[in-house]
Amino acid sequence: MSTDAIVLLKEDHQEIRGMFREFEQAGENATVTKGKIVDRILEALTVHTYIENEGLYPEVRKLVPDLEDDVLESYEEHHVADVLCAELAAMSPDDERFDAKTTVLIESVTHHISEEEGDWFPKVRAALGRNQLRDIGARMIELRAKAPRKPAQPSALKKAADTVLG
Ligand SMILES: [Fe+2]
Ligand SMILES: [Fe+2]
Repeated sequence: MSTDAIVLLKEDHQEIRGMFREFEQAGENATVTKGKIVDRILEALTVHTYIENEGLYPEVRKLVPDLEDDVLESYEEHHVADVLCAELAAMSPDDERFDAKTTVLIESVTHHISEEEGDWFPKVRAALGRNQLRDIGARMIELRAKAPRKPAQPSALKKAADTVLG
């Protein structure tokens, strides 16, 4: 099994996109089904964001200063996703805003993933050697084991946003 950081993250993206499709295809009234799909989306995004925030992004900031702006923008996109995930976690699938909020989460994360994959991950691969990407990936596998599985409480998010770049 490859531990290349970018390969691992793209596998996650694939899985997350699959869940987004399941939600979109679930149909108008499939409240119970959609609630279960969103639970899985929230867990997958919580883990994925954590391993990027802790494993990849700090290394890119350190090793590829040219990508500083991309990393900062990505932290903000993660923050937006965190807020939506926290709100969805506290909401019943019956709520009239549940589908709308999930749709905005899906649109926002889809945009974020395509910027990662299409824009700055290729620059990371070009700048870092294969061994460095393998080491970062190995570290991400360790981080995945201890990653939070549920979105943070909304009150914890502001603190996280203020300290993440500190
Ligand atoms: Fe990301
Ligand atoms: Fe990602």
